[in-house]
Amino acid sequence: MAILVSGGAGYIGSHTVWELCEAGRDVVVADNLQTGFRASVHPKARFYRLDIRDRGALDVLFQAERIDGVIHFAASSQVGESMSDPLKYYDNNLHGTMVLLQAMVGHGVDKIVFSSTAATYGEPERVPILETDRTQPTNTYGETKLAMEHMMSWVSRAHGLRYVALRYFNACGAHPSGLIGEAHDPETHLIPIILQVPGGRREKLSLFGDDYPTPDGTCIRDYIHVSDLAQAHILALDYLMNGGENNVFNLGNGVGFSNKEVVEAARRVTGHLIPTVIAPRRAGDPARLVASSEKARSVLGWAPRYADLETIIATAWAWHKDHPNGYAK
Ligand code: UFG
Repeated sequence: MAILVSGGAGYIGSHTVWELCEAGRDVVVADNLQTGFRASVHPKARFYRLDIRDRGALDVLFQAERIDGVIHFAASSQVGESMSDPLKYYDNNLHGTMVLLQAMVGHGVDKIVFSSTAATYGEPERVPILETDRTQPTNTYGETKLAMEHMMSWVSRAHGLRYVALRYFNACGAHPSGLIGEAHDPETHLIPIILQVPGGRREKLSLFGDDYPTPDGTCIRDYIHVSDLAQAHILALDYLMNGGENNVFNLGNGVGFSNKEVVEAARRVTGHLIPTVIAPRRAGDPARLVASSEKARSVLGWAPRYADLETIIATAWAWHKDHPNGYAK
């Protein structure tokens, strides 16, 4: 029996496929390569280039493969773009999930691990954030991810499908082998943008706002290594395989770092000065996002291996130094 990974050529998807394959699991990847890279897919995984909104293509896959469970990453994931082109997010994320779930129900596949986000919470009421805290997204991206969680819940009631939603905080870092890593176009995330400066692709970094109600005035985030996220997906899948109930888990380190602290850590790792300028706040940025991941630790037995920010940045730096232009298309 195989695991289907939708979006398995994307950043977090490819790292999860890597861990699954290295653990000897049988893996099938479905990805339309709109933002993913064929070169990032582990050579042992069987690859289908398809769009999950294409029910016919999904039927061919489900007929050809014996799929036991699905890990679902395929989605658009840029907060800014989700505000300028919301319908793209409803189409790719919600409609895509709907067609995938229809195909799963049609082919009797009843387990799904779902890539969700801290953006489902919006501006948090308190930190660390618990899974039971208020969900009130402040952008279309978070709104569609929350609606996808709800969709799975209703489908579960009607058809007996079981799901785990994993709400990640700030995914970062690269596989310790240096073979795969982060490659977004355009890049919007803090750590890869910082590393463009020592990488010679950017002169300086703009820090978006230094007047937040935090000790140094810059936003605080909870950075979690992509390989630790990958492990959590495997644990969540095994939890469902062992009869676990529908569930939602936060995935973070539980420690917050300010944007200035992240720059400092990157200076230490790269030995580069990394000049910064203060720029206006970016719309929709909450001041402080830190996860409580106690539930994932106790229920799934998840234990992140990369708690140290410098180690995390070092893995990202190793990847970006060797792949200044990401994957060759
Ligand atoms: N930042 C800068 N300069 C830059 C880029 C980012 O100062 O050039 C700042 C941002 O303003 C923010 C922090 O760095 O304060 C982190 O920004 P990222 O874009 O790296 O990450 P976010 O916290 O905005 O986003 C993450 C995930 C999203 C998810 C969101 C939930 O990447 O997928 O958390 O709020 F939706």
